[in-house]
Amino acid sequence: MDQAAKKQAVAAAAIEDIRGQFVSGAIIGVGTGSTANAFIDLLAQHKQQFDGAVASSQATADRLSSHGIRVLDLNDAGTLAVYVDGADEADPDLNLIKGGGGALTREKIVAAASERFVCIVDDSKCVATLGDYPLPIEVLPMARELVMRALVALGGQPKVREGFTTDNGNLIVDTAALDLRDPPAMERALNDLVGAVCNGLFALRPADALLVAGTSGVANYMRGDR
Ligand code: A5P
Repeated sequence: MDQAAKKQAVAAAAIEDIRGQFVSGAIIGVGTGSTANAFIDLLAQHKQQFDGAVASSQATADRLSSHGIRVLDLNDAGTLAVYVDGADEADPDLNLIKGGGGALTREKIVAAASERFVCIVDDSKCVATLGDYPLPIEVLPMARELVMRALVALGGQPKVREGFTTDNGNLIVDTAALDLRDPPAMERALNDLVGAVCNGLFALRPADALLVAGTSGVANYMRGDR
């Protein structure tokens, strides 16, 4: 099974996982990226059975709308029962690195507004310890050098993502070499950086369920399983 087929398989598994949300009044949180896109395309088949979705990026809002799925502002949606999104890395405690697509801030907001976060990945994303993937950090343009100096002081090797502006008008600084053996501790340290809007570590609010597509099918992990 190639990577595209794995994304399709895990997207289909997510539809089964959230089938209980296909009820009148339900609003579903939807993430960003190629795996989330596969999920959106399948979600469209059920669009008559729920009320709408909250998107974690403009690209996701556009894709939802193109399928005729109503897109709501998070401020009008209240607490969401479930958020479905991909990740760039996932560890055995369901801590994640996200933001490869640059949407990490809105993704973290929608995840925080959701009772349950279902993360969908192919098996290439599963790691023993986070950190091979450079951690994306969203930074206000005027604070670029200040934040990069602070990231170096934390042991990181920051690099501005060239030619990229987030949906919020900011920069992404991809940061290699951070010590992520204690993901919640590093997330707290990064949360303290003045000028950094948000970081792509999802450890203080990790996934609640991780669906992993491999060659022999989709495995479903809950926090504490692995
Ligand atoms: C978007 O900003 C990211 O957090 C994505 O969730 C992540 O990059 C996974 O993307 P793919 O599903 O395209 O690998």
